[in-house]
Amino acid sequence: MNFGTVGTGWITESFIEAARETGELTHTAVYSRREDKARSFAEKHGAAHAFTDLEEMASNDELDAVYIASPNSHHFQHVLTFLRKKKHVICEKPIFSNLREWEEAYRVAEENGVYLFEAMRNLHAPNFARLQEGLEQIGTVRNMILPFVQYSSRYDKYLAGENPNVFTTAFSGGALMDLGVYPLSIVVGLFGKPANAVYFPVLLDSGVDGSGTLVLEYPDFTAAIVCSKIAQSSNTCEILGENGTLVFENAGDMYHPKVVRNKGKDVTELPADEHPNNMVYEVQAFARIIQNGDRDTYERLKKISYDVLAITENVRRENGIIFDSEKEA
Ligand SMILES: NC(=O)c1ccc[n+]([C@@H]2O[C@H](COP(=O)([O-])OP(=O)(O)OC[C@H]3O[C@@H](n4cnc5c(N)ncnc54)[C@H](OP(=O)(O)O)[C@@H]3O)[C@@H](O)[C@H]2O)c1
Repeated sequence: MNFGTVGTGWITESFIEAARETGELTHTAVYSRREDKARSFAEKHGAAHAFTDLEEMASNDELDAVYIASPNSHHFQHVLTFLRKKKHVICEKPIFSNLREWEEAYRVAEENGVYLFEAMRNLHAPNFARLQEGLEQIGTVRNMILPFVQYSSRYDKYLAGENPNVFTTAFSGGALMDLGVYPLSIVVGLFGKPANAVYFPVLLDSGVDGSGTLVLEYPDFTAAIVCSKIAQSSNTCEILGENGTLVFENAGDMYHPKVVRNKGKDVTELPADEHPNNMVYEVQAFARIIQNGDRDTYERLKKISYDVLAITENVRRENGIIFDSEKEA
């Protein structure tokens, strides 16, 4: 399958690398707002076509699919543009700002007979399956603490008076949308939708959450998701069971999963994957779903995406974090 890319940041380069490694997708087209950037990015990655007009790119007959890594607030319009031209779409997390956009986009995907995926890379990695196996060893789950904290160089810019996209309501930014969605997807992927979710944000003057703690309530346990773009952490995640603790590093990669028992004295390492770019697994998963018409897996992923967005939208609104597109609506 031939694919194009929208957005020219480092994450797009990681996706192109992953696609190349799998051999499942061939990169043939680039979109950038600037012609020189579109050309040089296409040249760097060996893509034949460079576009500055999105409609024109979406009309390209050679293109089967597109990977979208534009700022969050642009996902909706960018996704629709390609779905309407019957291209499969892989859109970066968080796929949309709210459920209104999610429902409309999936309706358009169905109408045009194409697939729409949220690129939540951790859900497709082998280490996610290790977590499922590890859960069987720790007994009844009672608690979990899942931080995803990355002090952002863009916060320094924000403090210096600039408005980096991810720190603004104009671009649907904030810590929960940018980072909290990784551990949230893990919890929803493992345990389904919680009965209740409450968010305690640390709000910045720009109106987005620089930091925050999301508490999820399930019948037998609670989960605390700590996300921040303005603090630092080791990002060690712990799922606490009656018979042991499942520990792993970083909610994006889930490195070094292990089961710890007996007050830390007994440690069982789980066989883990250490691939430095776990986007390869989402590329493989999306290609497999499209090629095999695997509706069951597709619907399961859709449900996780929907539930995660339902939670983030609800807790955002409860805390007065309203994106600009929602203010206008
Ligand atoms: N899966 C992951 O691990 C991961 C990691 C990082 C980011 N992401 C996601 O990837 C997406 C992009 O993140 P990012 O940090 O690269 O975002 P970004 O730097 O704000 O923008 C991404 C791209 O969009 C274009 N762009 C920038 N500002 C724009 C504006 N004002 N209007 C229209 N287009 C604009 C730029 O491309 P041109 O200048 O070429 O048009 C830029 O390369 C986000 O949804 C983010 O959550 C995912």
